[in-house]
Amino acid sequence: MEKSFIIKGGKKLIGRVRVSGAKNAASKMMVASLLTDERVTLLNFPAIGEMDIVAELCESIGSKLTRSKGKLSIHTPTIKTHEVLSLSRRNRIPILTLGPLLARCGKAEVPILGGDKIGPRPVDLHFKALEAMGAKITATEKSYRAEAPHGLHGAKIVFPFPSVGATENAILAAVLAKGKTLICNAAVEPEIIDLIKMLQKMGAIIGLGANRTIEIEGVPRLRGTTHSVIPDRMEAASFACLAAATDGKIFVEDARQEDLLTFLNAFRRIGGGYEVADDGISFWRERPLTGIEFETDTHPGFMTDWQQPFVALLTQAKGVSVVHETIYEDRFAYARDLNAMGANIKVFSKCLGEVACRFNGRGCEHSAIISGPTPLVGGKSTARDLRAGVVQIIAALIAKGTSTISGVEEIDRGYENIDGRLRALGADIKRV
Ligand code: EPU
Repeated sequence: MEKSFIIKGGKKLIGRVRVSGAKNAASKMMVASLLTDERVTLLNFPAIGEMDIVAELCESIGSKLTRSKGKLSIHTPTIKTHEVLSLSRRNRIPILTLGPLLARCGKAEVPILGGDKIGPRPVDLHFKALEAMGAKITATEKSYRAEAPHGLHGAKIVFPFPSVGATENAILAAVLAKGKTLICNAAVEPEIIDLIKMLQKMGAIIGLGANRTIEIEGVPRLRGTTHSVIPDRMEAASFACLAAATDGKIFVEDARQEDLLTFLNAFRRIGGGYEVADDGISFWRERPLTGIEFETDTHPGFMTDWQQPFVALLTQAKGVSVVHETIYEDRFAYARDLNAMGANIKVFSKCLGEVACRFNGRGCEHSAIISGPTPLVGGKSTARDLRAGVVQIIAALIAKGTSTISGVEEIDRGYENIDGRLRALGADIKRV
């Protein structure tokens, strides 16, 4: 049965919370483990719904998994099947298995992708990269079929846009390909660098060049390793927004300054306070919040996954804030939920940034103006997607009265025991 959160707003969140291992690193590392027939151990492994989905995917391919608190051991001595079709549209990870499956079996078939409903999310760049390395890819109604009977070879891949997933796919395919691969205009998100570190420990030869280039020299085989997953910078930013939104103070253990540089600047500009310690960062509200203009971008810019919790916070800022979302064309649907609770957010299809983005003239609502501060009142809503669900939690925690958020499985997909951890910080939240 669908689960809901019942939240009574108005409590300041105060205390200490630890961020989990990063969802968007751990899931890719599970896929990377398929590149070797030896055991891979992941530490700081998050206990979130998304990992169960990826575990099911790896098991269907032939992996044996053992999990204990904060640890996953994954071992794929043989590939049972190159077809991962039974796992339908629940997330976007299956496409990343193409490289490992092509390397180990010479063929692969994966389902058409799912994931959060935040835009069409095409996969053309993934295929361009794999095709440049010698894969032949065909699309059926429900799946993508790839073949490389003579193995993959190195190639020069130039991305028109630094896609996270396509960069990861190219890396995962190139580490066992014959010869050298050069990825230009690659995404260099901290989760990707962490994946590279893990692959290097497995025996891969990967270097980072200037101007977003990644150089990979293929090796014949990779070995097992133990790797600790980078802390989740999205979760860290969500707790920072919660601290400032409720006028509380939260020490976010394991939040890493180097992964939050751009967020910290924006947080400071609107009136948030923070203090960096060796083992984490404290967040609070330093002064009455004020509006800001910003746009989302690939790393090291302001990341798209910070946008939603930050906008929830901006509903409490004095004046006007302008947000230009340049990564996803449809990431403001949650504004309707906030407006229903009393916020004043208007969305626009125009580019409200200094430079027009690739969505210019496409009619998609990818800019927003938030006027505040607006008192919020509790209401009923359904978690639209993972990050939008967190917006609804933040809004409910600052709203007057009681809110009910249904469909919390979406939130569980990316946030470990979110209700338990919020309760420990003083929130009045119940799971029913
Ligand atoms: N894009 C294309 N063609 C492609 C690939 C991407 O046009 O072949 C476009 C997408 O449609 C999108 C943009 O490029 O508009 C960005 O996509 P990207 O490939 O960079 O993102 P992703 O790999 O699909 C990952 C995270 C997202 C995060 C983005 C950006 C995972 C599983 N997902 O998605 O995380 O927002 O990078 O940093 O790693 C989340 O955690 O809530 C989430 C959505």
